[in-house]
Amino acid sequence: MTETLTIKTPDDWHLHLRDGAMLRAVAPETARHFGRAIIMPNLVPPVVTGADAAAYRDRILAALPDGSGFTPLMTLYLTEDTDPEDLARAHNDGLITAVKLYPAGATTNSASGVTDFDKVRPVLEKMAEIGCPLCVHGEVVDSEIDIFDREAVFIERVLDPIRRATPGLRVVMEHITTMQGVEYASEGGPDLGATITTHHLVINRNHILAGGIKPHYYCLPVAKREEHRLALRRAATSGDPTYFLGTDSAPHTDANKLLPCGCAGCFTATNTLSILAEVFEQEGALDRLESFASLNGPKFYRLPPNDSVVTLTKGAPIDYPKQIETGDGPVTVFDPMMPLHWRVET
Ligand code: NCD
Ligand code: ZN
Repeated sequence: MTETLTIKTPDDWHLHLRDGAMLRAVAPETARHFGRAIIMPNLVPPVVTGADAAAYRDRILAALPDGSGFTPLMTLYLTEDTDPEDLARAHNDGLITAVKLYPAGATTNSASGVTDFDKVRPVLEKMAEIGCPLCVHGEVVDSEIDIFDREAVFIERVLDPIRRATPGLRVVMEHITTMQGVEYASEGGPDLGATITTHHLVINRNHILAGGIKPHYYCLPVAKREEHRLALRRAATSGDPTYFLGTDSAPHTDANKLLPCGCAGCFTATNTLSILAEVFEQEGALDRLESFASLNGPKFYRLPPNDSVVTLTKGAPIDYPKQIETGDGPVTVFDPMMPLHWRVET
């Protein structure tokens, strides 16, 4: 008997689509399986104004295959100069869905992010007033803090104080990677959500560093110890509406990954759904995949789930490309180091 699983079409609540030739190559990979995605604004230069977001949205729509029903949900990149009124207008017009906070220097193209959190206080207060969610890259950047501790320290030193100082601010802890992240999110009530990536459910830090360095498993926040990966798997498969899928699929060309100082990011758009089905099956939680991938995110963002459905069918291990070609050079697809048995019927 064929095993099948039909779920509401999933959404990706944290996605990098880039621009130009890379955008044209990667947008179809997500649009094939997903209804909507929160689009990260860390372009060069970043998406900082409503006008920037409108122009980027048009470029994304132009990059989609004909007949695609995919909807990009746009974000603004928070800077110390962000104009609260421009932001409020873009949100009220439905042009943007959220705003992204990068601590300056935390990750790829974060140089225009925030250093002095007091400077963005008026913007955060405006966001609380209008109900615009803040998506947070939760890592401190202090060189004296060990990279494996940066998420836990951020929660204590930055995130918790911001939330206490800004009642009503709706916050998404993006790509949590630690048990501290899981715990803090679980206690935050309905105004706090957390995304979990596909790859952080699969890899721990050994996969990056043991037996030779594996640049394709290097991303930010960096994968942590096994106990943290297990905490993320429990959270994702729990059914708790706090946690939802944000793949953080972050394409870089192999030329830019395989350098003495290579870029951070795992490209998972192509095989994410098959990987997730495998992970949820391993955890005995296939019946909760829909909550994580298709229901909890819309609930947090106060949007209806997608009307359409996708069906996954279990069978012989599937084939998927090891790389996708882009006009900028090949991009390696995330290797989950296990056969994937769930095919997404399109
Ligand atoms: C992202 C990128 O490449 O834009 N990289 C990553 O490792 N996740 C940036 C980010 O989300 O931190
Ligand atoms: Zn990201």
